[in-house]
Amino acid sequence: MHGDEAKTALVTGGRRGIGRGIALALAEAGFDIALLDVARDADAEAALAEIAARGRRSLFVAGDIADIASHAAVAETIWRALGPLTCLVNNAGVSVLNRGDLLEVTPESYDRCLDINLRGSFFLTQTIAKRMLADPAPAWHRSIVNITSVSAEVVSISRGEYCISKAGAAMMTKLFAVRLAETGIGVYEVRPGIIRTDMTKVSEGRLDQLIQDGISPIKRWGEAADVAKTVVTAAEGHLPFAVGQALLVDGGLTIRTL
Ligand code: NAI
Repeated sequence: MHGDEAKTALVTGGRRGIGRGIALALAEAGFDIALLDVARDADAEAALAEIAARGRRSLFVAGDIADIASHAAVAETIWRALGPLTCLVNNAGVSVLNRGDLLEVTPESYDRCLDINLRGSFFLTQTIAKRMLADPAPAWHRSIVNITSVSAEVVSISRGEYCISKAGAAMMTKLFAVRLAETGIGVYEVRPGIIRTDMTKVSEGRLDQLIQDGISPIKRWGEAADVAKTVVTAAEGHLPFAVGQALLVDGGLTIRTL
């Protein structure tokens, strides 16, 4: 499959961590892959090489998803290089600038979280969905998958702005899911728990302890590959009557127990 006949996915924040895991799993499933990330560094080159090793085409687009004025050009670059996009994974995200008292959250950290995790993803989704709808429907499933977090639901008062951004992203999923339900573009939320990446490295010791103490019924770190398998399931159309669902990949962390 090439050009207009290919399954193609854009993974934002795909150069490392969960995004990279998703990109590789989608490549494995036969998708050509565009990565949108802040810098084409050694991590990005390694991710591109791993996509190529899976026999798929790849494209790296350097950019900041918070820069919403760039989204139309990003879409144009992808459509020209890989053909019509059939899957968007909104994965790029940041944590807070400084953990601390909710009463001391700064406007800088608040705006950064909201601009990247919510506003950037919202407008990128709008741009991509419109272009998808302008294409003839392909023979396979089209999808938009938003990577949120258990923080969409679970309160962490030391990083409130992150929680707010993820709660917003959960609502954003339901909104686009309903808007696009009759178009054949499936929209899903994938909600990870504690996943081993650079983002969580700073809190490794504390999280190790929480896991050991049984914060989740499955007593281990989640891996990028755990999240990626769920994304592929959604992207491949294996959730046919599901609309805007939050698919929890959290080892059971959010199940209340007594
Ligand atoms: P990470 O920090 O390892 O990777 C994030 C990637 O997004 C990086 O490559 C980064 O350069 C890119 N990125 C950040 N801001 C960007 C921007 N403005 N424009 C373009 N790219 C940008 O983080 P990780 O852990 O892989 O997180 C991926 C997603 O999963 C995030 O949305 C995060 O909130 C979410 N998540 C992570 C969890 C974890 O335990 N690691 C748990 C739940 C959700």
